[in-house]
Amino acid sequence: MSDIAENNRIPVSLIPGDGIGPEITEATQRVVEAAGGNVEWQTVPAGMSALDTDRDPLPPKTIDSITQNQLALKGPLATPAGGGFRSINVALRQHFDLYANVRPAKSTPGVPSRFDNVDIVLIRENTEGMYSGIEHYVGPSRNAAESIAIITRHGSERIVRFAFDYARNHNRKKVTLIHKANILKMTDGLFLEVGRKMAEEYPDIEFNDMIVDATAMNMVVRPEQFDVIVTMNLFGDILSDLSAGLIGGLGVAPAANIGEGTCAIFEAVHGTAPDIAGKGMANPTALMRSAAMLLDHIDQTEAAGRMHRGIDRALADDATRTRDLGGKADTTTFTDAVINNL
Ligand SMILES: NC(=O)c1ccc[n+]([C@@H]2O[C@H](COP(=O)([O-])OP(=O)(O)OC[C@H]3O[C@@H](n4cnc5c(N)ncnc54)[C@H](O)[C@@H]3O)[C@@H](O)[C@H]2O)c1
Repeated sequence: MSDIAENNRIPVSLIPGDGIGPEITEATQRVVEAAGGNVEWQTVPAGMSALDTDRDPLPPKTIDSITQNQLALKGPLATPAGGGFRSINVALRQHFDLYANVRPAKSTPGVPSRFDNVDIVLIRENTEGMYSGIEHYVGPSRNAAESIAIITRHGSERIVRFAFDYARNHNRKKVTLIHKANILKMTDGLFLEVGRKMAEEYPDIEFNDMIVDATAMNMVVRPEQFDVIVTMNLFGDILSDLSAGLIGGLGVAPAANIGEGTCAIFEAVHGTAPDIAGKGMANPTALMRSAAMLLDHIDQTEAAGRMHRGIDRALADDATRTRDLGGKADTTTFTDAVINNL
């Protein structure tokens, strides 16, 4: 982490992003300040809005700011269609080697969902597997195509170790490794082999493994059996949206992308929601919870706890819950309620 700023505040790069991004980042900044979060925001551009202002969806000054601060809070980004632009989210993860994607999914009273007892943290490998980016057509007719999944011992070891350490540091009891090693015997087999071996180093944490299709069913039938889940890129991508669905949808789901060094980027799981952008209707819960994860990450746990408490109370009340969750509030009313309930 870079030096603490002159006023003792920790500098954090802030990317407002596109669509509803600026509305929810502003709401989140208000809540972090009111909760006593000791951070100094350095606002930098990325996404479509950066293409307009800086002619580059990921300007060098944004990369420089994150490199310097090693910490960022990111609003959702629209990737410009066509023209050879790659996903900026993927570019950021690759540039900073943010190999661990952490997605907590916890039920909140008042938020409509099928269950009230979900408390899962899904940890997804972010850099290899089916998303290694190696795919091509076979032959000129384009009647067949192939994609190569890369699983390495190094990549598997660092994500599985991350999951066990996360469980230990967050007082969690169990790690479940998700795979399809019955069919994908070498790639998923290697991932499972690494997990089973590493479990021996963590006798205080219960370990089991589960095949991905059985997991999909179990998560929607008996989600309370899961605590920390660790899995590969593709399965993690799918199951983490499933876990968001278990707690009321993307509007409430936060995420962290964490690297091997000290770099970490926190973001809401949802996208830019162009259909409601600029209307004051956006639900800032997911980004607020992501900011609370950031505060936790830099040991400002009391401020993080205050944020979660304020959010929980504002969500519990119909009058202050946002419309996407069946409430009556707009973004500002919800944000005011969070601050009043800190
Ligand atoms: N992390 C990211 O930056 C990220 C993630 C996903 C999608 N995207 C981008 O976002 C754009 C739109 O994608 P999409 O429409 O598939 O997904 P989306 O998440 O933006 O929207 C899906 C639906 O959920 C609603 N919604 C999402 N977040 C909400 C919130 N906070 N409050 C209230 N309602 C909310 C939207 O109004 C919409 O109806 C695309 O350009 C996509 O590439 C970015």
